[in-house]
Amino acid sequence: MSSSNPQWGGRFRLASADILQRINASIDIDRKLWRQDIEGSRAHARMLARTGVLSEADAAAIEEGLAEIEAEIEGGRFSFETALEDIHMNIEARLAERIGEPGRRLHTGRSRNDQVATDFRLWVRDAIDRIDAALAAAMRALADRALEHAADPMPGLTHLQTAQPVTLGHHLLAYVEMLGRDRGRFADARARLNESPLGAAALAGTAFPIDREMTAGALGFARPCANSIDAVSSRDFALEFLAASAICAVHLSRFAEEIVIWCSAPFRFVRLSDAYTTGSSIMPQKRNPDAAELVRAKPGRIAGALMGLLMVVKGLPLAYAKDLQEDKPPVFEAADALELALAATEGMVRDFVPDLSRLRAAAGDGYSTATDLADWLVRALELPFRTAHHVTGRIVARAEGMGVALADLPLAEMQREEPRITQAVFEVLSVEASIASRNSHGGTAPARVREQAMRWREALA
Ligand code: ARG
Repeated sequence: MSSSNPQWGGRFRLASADILQRINASIDIDRKLWRQDIEGSRAHARMLARTGVLSEADAAAIEEGLAEIEAEIEGGRFSFETALEDIHMNIEARLAERIGEPGRRLHTGRSRNDQVATDFRLWVRDAIDRIDAALAAAMRALADRALEHAADPMPGLTHLQTAQPVTLGHHLLAYVEMLGRDRGRFADARARLNESPLGAAALAGTAFPIDREMTAGALGFARPCANSIDAVSSRDFALEFLAASAICAVHLSRFAEEIVIWCSAPFRFVRLSDAYTTGSSIMPQKRNPDAAELVRAKPGRIAGALMGLLMVVKGLPLAYAKDLQEDKPPVFEAADALELALAATEGMVRDFVPDLSRLRAAAGDGYSTATDLADWLVRALELPFRTAHHVTGRIVARAEGMGVALADLPLAEMQREEPRITQAVFEVLSVEASIASRNSHGGTAPARVREQAMRWREALA
């Protein structure tokens, strides 16, 4: 048996069971919040002095003590005690140890319930800002490569089957759009998150004449949370962060999977350098795209974190309950995983070298310009599209039977299906002609792709 916590043990006669201490303590996890906890305490102490709840002298002593603790933690000289449960009581106990009675006045007009909600919002806000910057960096890399390859053909696939030729730049820009929306989701979550729980106290507010606008402003929040019960018990800010993270991780996994496929021997569309591949301990020829595979796997953890926290919050009655201490591990884990995945993605985007001649050849395989033939029949012969589609299907079957590409099928063979077809049809059957013709807004024509790549590079500069 250890002794009960000196921060709350006044009415307790017996010491905590060791197992209680082990299940209850969160310090090994929430020590990550130390900076936010000190910031929150600074804002709270200044406000208490301004409103006359604390003397200026006490507040000054608290500020000095907090600065010393900050230096201790930064310098690795702070000893985190499991017996003190969490980061809040570790710092507060150390403050009292260093400065005595003023330190014991800091917790006036607040509770650990509003304190932890405040610290955690600040931490998630910082994580969003880091992830936003990493997303922008990954998008810049994609837009740069897209501009570089705005006119380089590759096969565009649907059902993983050859569909129509596109450009590599166009394909990469699809990911820029996705990641751009991911940034939007994080920005939305940040705006809703940015209200201050501090001063909600345990759940009901406080009788001390505090100024919640002042602490909210000092901590960069837009305003105080309007309902003290909601302030201490809501974690939808963390859920939204995890939901945005899960969607973003799923986007990254799609790109990662394409890299894995493109690097494989049957494809060889791209090559990753030694910097982003690993060897096999037994098969000397191997170059494994491990980084891409791990990015592909990260949604396991990140979507898992979202599910985990949803289950913690589900059915939880108001207001605070210790269940909510389980909010931090999934968020910390997801943030770490997503930051790694984003950095690895940016690295691979800048690293990969496409095999342009293989991509060009694959773009022409599989009768990829069949739609161009059908469109020509509509334009030149005014066939209804459905009829043109049918005629084209028969021409493709003929080409397939002879083992030749559409562009190499003799005109006479085509005319057996539709006698009015002329030599002019061959102008639309090449990969380059097909790509250049898809000039609609958002289409794959190199001119459109260049415009979009330039627009993104400007927006991200
Ligand atoms: N370590 C706790 C948490 O992370 C702090 C809040 C504890 N509040 C309480 N009333 N026991 O949620």
